[in-house]
Order: sequence, then structure tokens, then C-alpha cells
Amino acid sequence: MLEVKNLRKSYGPKEVLKGVNFKIPKGKTVAIMGPSGCGKSTTIRCLNRLTQPDAGQILFKGIPILELSEERLLDWRREVGFVFQKFNLIERLTVIENVILPLIKTGISIDKLRDKAINLLKKVRLSDEINSYPKNLSGGQKQRVGIARALVIEPSLMLLDEPTASLDPILVKEVLEVIEDLTRDKDKIVIIVTHEVSFALRIADIILLMDKGRVVEIGTPQSIFDNPKSEVGRRYKDLLDYY
Ligand SMILES: Nc1ncnc2c1ncn2[C@@H]1O[C@H](COP(=O)(O)OP(=O)(O)OP(=O)(O)O)[C@@H](O)[C@H]1O
Ligand SMILES: [Mg+2]
Repeated sequence: MLEVKNLRKSYGPKEVLKGVNFKIPKGKTVAIMGPSGCGKSTTIRCLNRLTQPDAGQILFKGIPILELSEERLLDWRREVGFVFQKFNLIERLTVIENVILPLIKTGISIDKLRDKAINLLKKVRLSDEINSYPKNLSGGQKQRVGIARALVIEPSLMLLDEPTASLDPILVKEVLEVIEDLTRDKDKIVIIVTHEVSFALRIADIILLMDKGRVVEIGTPQSIFDNPKSEVGRRYKDLLDYY
């Protein structure tokens, strides 16, 4: 269970998170949606403490994440997989080296790490590119490496920040399919920030709508898109009706 209570963040005079509250049960897939600049990335970056909020509380399985010591914070980061919009691969490393990297200093033998990475690369349909370099991959392939790298730590929380936003529309589907696969394992919470309305509707157990630094609506896709209560919800419903 993940619980976020009254999360606040300002940059200078600008209040970006104005008290964000939500609860997510174990095993659920959540789609965070909302207009550009409403605080989606800031919210998920607070969860693994890439961004430090000014106030509020984050509890994961009852553990207060914002109060962890430096050492315990490293342990926490090893439980959280993060997939970036711009992939963030290391260009001088091969695909398999990129995937192994998060576990390289853990003392696990290199053979075990390789086996693990090869299995994951199969899962994201990249078995043929194990020894390729990022520069020789398409955007969709790069993002699937990014997903394998996030999965290698066996995260109990997986965060994806607009994972398809940098992709050619033709390559979006192959990445969405891989993400859909990973949401089938109900062993972790997956939170994905996305503007892909029909994808969110298809894979999310919970939709969380944000606007101007606040959660304005949270619920099942059906409850939200059938009967939106917020302005943002109504706009997404219009978009769906259009399609
Ligand atoms: N490091 C930073 N320094 C200053 N302002 C920031 C910083 N990070 C984010 N902001 C501002 O905070 C607001 C919220 O940003 P955030 O990235 O969380 O929005 P978002 O909902 O993810 O938007 P998008 O859909 O465009 O990715 C924006 O106005 C942004 O300019
Ligand atoms: Mg963002």
C-alpha cells in the first residue's frame, strides 16, 4: 500500500504541489493524467525522492519514505523502478550492460546478472539486441531497454513518466504492449504518467487526475470517464468521445 498525504512543493514563489493526497492498494496500476505543468512529474519524482518535497508524508507498506536516513534511502531506491521519457540510457554501454547496471555493485555474480538481464530482454522483446549500443536502436527499442533496466531490481513500485512521449507514433504501440504485459504481474504498484487516454482506460485499475498541483479526481476508469466530476475529467471524457 502506498499512501501520499498532503504533499507540497514550491519552486521559488511558485507552488507546484498544493497538498497532494492519494492511497494506492498493492498490485494496482495507476494512470496519472492532467494538463501540462499540473505537477505529475513532480509528484512521482517525490516518490523515489529524486525531488524533495517541502512538506507532507509518503508511506509505503507503512514506512515513512521522507524520513529515511541516507543509507535506508539507497535501499528504497533499489525498490523503485523509474522509466524516463527520454530513456536516459548510457550510450557507451551495450543494451545488456545498461540493464545490469543498477545491480552491478550488489555482489551478485556477473553470470547471474547476465541471465537475469537476458530473461528481461526477452520479456521486452529485445533478445536480438543484447549486444547492440543505444545509438543503433529505435526510440521504441531504447525505451524497452529502459523498462528492462527498471525491472532488473524487481521493484515493488514502478514509476513511468510519459514513457511514450518521445516516440514516433508508429513505435508507441510496441512500448505500450510491453508496459501492458508488466502490469499483469500483480506483485507491484505501477504508476504511469501518460497522455494516452485510451491506453490508460485499458490498463489502469485507478485513474488519478491532477490539475494545478492537486488531485482533482481518483477512481476506476469507468467511474471517471462515465461520470467525471472535475473540469479535467470532463475534458478527457470529451476526448474519448471524439475517438
Ligand atoms: N526543477 C524545477 N525548477 C523550477 N520549476 C520547476 C522544476 N520542476 C518543475 N517545475 C515547474 O513545476 C510545474 C510542474 O512541473 P511538472 O514537471 O511536475 O509538471 P507535469 O504535470 O509533469 O507537466 P508535463 O505534462 O508538461 O510533463 C511546472 O510549472 C514546471 O515548470
Ligand atoms: Mg511531466
